[in-house]
Amino acid sequence: MANADKYTVTSALPYANGPLHIGHIAGAYLPADIFVRYLRLRGKDVVYICGSDEHGAAITIQARKEGVSPQEIVDKYHELNKATFERFGMSFDIYHRTSSELHHHTAADFFKTLYDKGAFDVQESEQFFDEEYQQFLADRYITGTCPKCGHDKAYGDQCEKCGSSLNPTDLINPLSTLSGKTPVLKTTRHWYLPMQKEEGWLKEWIEQGTLEGKPHHDPKAWKKQVIGQCKSWIDGGLQSRAMTRDLDWGVKVPLPDAVGKVLYVWLDAPIGYISATKQWALDHKTDWESRWQDPNTQLVHFIGKDNIVFHCIIFPILLKLHGGYNLPVNVPANEFLNLEGDKISTSRNHAVWLHEYLDDFPGKEDVLRYVLCSISPELKDSEFTWDDFQARNNNELVAIFGNFVNRALVLTDKYYEGKVPTLGQPTEADKEVIKQCEAIPEKVGQGIEAYRFREALADAIQLARIGNKYLADNEPWKVIKTDPERVKTVMHIALQIGAALAVVMKPFLPFTAEKLRGMLQLEGGEWDVAGTLNLLPEGHQLGKASLLFEKIEVDTIQAQKDKLNRNKPKKPNVMEAKPEIVFDDFTKVDIRTGTILEAEKVPDTDKLLKLSIDTGLDKRTVVSGIAQFYQPENIIGQKVLILVNLAPRKLRGIPSQGMILMAEDADGKLCFVKPEDEMMNGSTVR
Ligand code: 2FM
Ligand code: ZN
Repeated sequence: MANADKYTVTSALPYANGPLHIGHIAGAYLPADIFVRYLRLRGKDVVYICGSDEHGAAITIQARKEGVSPQEIVDKYHELNKATFERFGMSFDIYHRTSSELHHHTAADFFKTLYDKGAFDVQESEQFFDEEYQQFLADRYITGTCPKCGHDKAYGDQCEKCGSSLNPTDLINPLSTLSGKTPVLKTTRHWYLPMQKEEGWLKEWIEQGTLEGKPHHDPKAWKKQVIGQCKSWIDGGLQSRAMTRDLDWGVKVPLPDAVGKVLYVWLDAPIGYISATKQWALDHKTDWESRWQDPNTQLVHFIGKDNIVFHCIIFPILLKLHGGYNLPVNVPANEFLNLEGDKISTSRNHAVWLHEYLDDFPGKEDVLRYVLCSISPELKDSEFTWDDFQARNNNELVAIFGNFVNRALVLTDKYYEGKVPTLGQPTEADKEVIKQCEAIPEKVGQGIEAYRFREALADAIQLARIGNKYLADNEPWKVIKTDPERVKTVMHIALQIGAALAVVMKPFLPFTAEKLRGMLQLEGGEWDVAGTLNLLPEGHQLGKASLLFEKIEVDTIQAQKDKLNRNKPKKPNVMEAKPEIVFDDFTKVDIRTGTILEAEKVPDTDKLLKLSIDTGLDKRTVVSGIAQFYQPENIIGQKVLILVNLAPRKLRGIPSQGMILMAEDADGKLCFVKPEDEMMNGSTVR
């Protein structure tokens, strides 16, 4: 795979309607960044494209929610997301935006070319229209009852409860989210892409990896679930799909008879990859065409699984119909990342927001990169937990990687004033260690090229494990007293392993690799030589050692868990109201003021106290379920309210005559209710 010279790599353009969370990062961004950083280290010519998707109902809905214009929304979140990605070390060559003029032109021209080729059918259909707002309603602007599961807040395109894909007209009792009223059906005209006409070549391209009979890509290199989703779409029968929408936010349809219509977001967002490449080419005074149209350039789309159909079916059809464009050689879509046993949810604020993480954990960008790559949802959904985050930091990054590098540097400083000692005479065991280490970079590279980033990272950290064990086995700190020549060999080898780590870790942990490089004063060090274990010449002066990673304490982790819990929906804090009664019902109740004279626990129970009460009328026994809240000795003399005309009953064999009035909250906590002023026992309560 890495024998091509040029690559165009894209990450899904995130909607500029909210901040980024770790699910986004693990899905479409971190794997792509690792991939392109690796390719660059291999000397490949890569352009890595991303930017904000600033159109569609996703944006206009958020704008309504925040009470500002769509432009204000995209400006705000474009800036936030761009800056956040940068802080996290994402190495895009450009982070563009689809609201730019260049994009509007590019997308409109793309549509016009397809239109001129006769790629679209015009169809009239009935769509929901809000009469009060005088506008057609995008699918997300219509809610109603799901016909499949009965959920009463399903959207016009999907029910989030049962996951069914819907059409707005499927909804029972549809309502406009704009006016809250029932929308009417009104005829509208749109331009449709008859996808069924493309089924032949598409099926062959996806299943066999051939395009017009010629080999295009290796279908075995595609993830099974990606091919599976495409096949089930194709087998379900491709249909005509509208490529335009009635909306006033987006790229205007470039036809005179299309007033008030914009391009459907899928004829818009992916073309954003192309317009971003154009802007990048302008900025770098180079051409963009070779990045999209030269058959020797490999196009790879990194996305989450919700975008598979768009990148593997709709966008390829558009590219092919337009003509002159490459199709992707792979679309390594990831599955979803869950968080602490639940789906990540923006609306419920059940998420770890990347910008907040970066604020809360300054200098720990690589810890999150390490953890998210280690648990990357490559083949199935996976889960992030704060405990696992802490464990991976403390047990792997600190205890293995950091510890190994620190020992190697500190001992070299101590014994050789920071100069790389001579290799001397390595033993057979040393040679075996060298051999093992030398094989690692190639393995890591193979993993990355196969989009198996978890495995690749596990192989890379193996270098640190071997190095750590090598020092522990050889104990240079002891041997220095008896055989100083041997220690030179050991430290030489350890330092070479450290240098290999600085290269191999660079795609995964760029900040750490850079720091390590500085500590080793390592020059050059491309991927191809990482496996020589010969990156540091004898006598080379190392820089100053410092810690690569720090332990993360329980309190820090607890604070993050608390933050997540604060967002959980609270239990109702008052109990539900009881049904209405009439005054006569109330007058039957005889409540008096009283005083507790004696109190003791009822043996063998957790909850019951036996109380003796002066009611003003008499002295009587009441068994009360308050033992979890009050110690008997603390309540002697307590003023209480007591229901005196309750029929007596036996509790644990003790006759109980009446009931003490207690206030109880929704969690079941109890406390006494008593008169504010001193009142004679036997005073009535009404
Ligand atoms: O799903 C999304 O996040 C959309 N903004 C589309 C991303 S892919 C597109 F850019 F092609
Ligand atoms: Zn449903």
